[in-house]
Amino acid sequence: MRKKIVAGNWKMNTTVAEGVALAKAVVERSAEVPEGVDLIVAPPFTHLVSVAEVLKGSKVGLSAQNCANKAKGAYTGEVSVDMLVSAGCGWTILGHSERRQYYGETDALLVEKVRLALDAGLGVILCVGENLDEREAGRHFEVVTEQTKAVLFNFTAEEMAKIVIAYEPVWAIGTGKTATAAQAEEIHECIRKVLAQKFGQAVADDTTILYGGSCKPSNAKELFAQPDIDGGLIGGAALKADDFIGIALSF
Ligand code: 13P
Repeated sequence: MRKKIVAGNWKMNTTVAEGVALAKAVVERSAEVPEGVDLIVAPPFTHLVSVAEVLKGSKVGLSAQNCANKAKGAYTGEVSVDMLVSAGCGWTILGHSERRQYYGETDALLVEKVRLALDAGLGVILCVGENLDEREAGRHFEVVTEQTKAVLFNFTAEEMAKIVIAYEPVWAIGTGKTATAAQAEEIHECIRKVLAQKFGQAVADDTTILYGGSCKPSNAKELFAQPDIDGGLIGGAALKADDFIGIALSF
């Protein structure tokens, strides 16, 4: 079922103590968020167990920011999907542009990660989005279509029920430059059309597609009012409970 979701990607920010305090503040304010709007926080790996404890019994879900592309074994420094499940995660973000850009993650690698995550019972928030050069060259539809197909066309219609897509134009991330609601909507609409070609209209209509990139309380309302925008993946503004909840109150 298509959902309304506001997810906070904390990236590499906060100490454990700061993260626990932030999670507590989010849980406290989550009572203000209406039924039907799901909240998720994605702290760093080191925080997951402690934050899971804080979130217990609340309406706030827990996500990792990444996972390994191997199930277990001699992969120093990696974190497996089973570890994430055992830490209390229900979700993992995959394919964030920062992973693609700084750590060389490819669509082929992401197929492996999505496979493992789904098989472990995790929901996946898969990120797609064009960079500034691609946008300026007018290639944004093409790039996002290709990323969507290259990863998701390896999965079944049933598996799509556990996958959320986040459209995050790279030029809008952390720059203060939000895509306009119209720019975001036309890409979301395009993603839904691509999904419909492969999985049928019902699956496309049921897929939750989030927008990310300098989303804040002041612009969330207009973005979330678009027919194909089902919520947000929030970076900087997710580090303040007031802003994060303010965005969730923008539906
Ligand atoms: P900002 O909200 O800081 O632009 O980050 C968006 C993002 O990358 C979320 O994953």
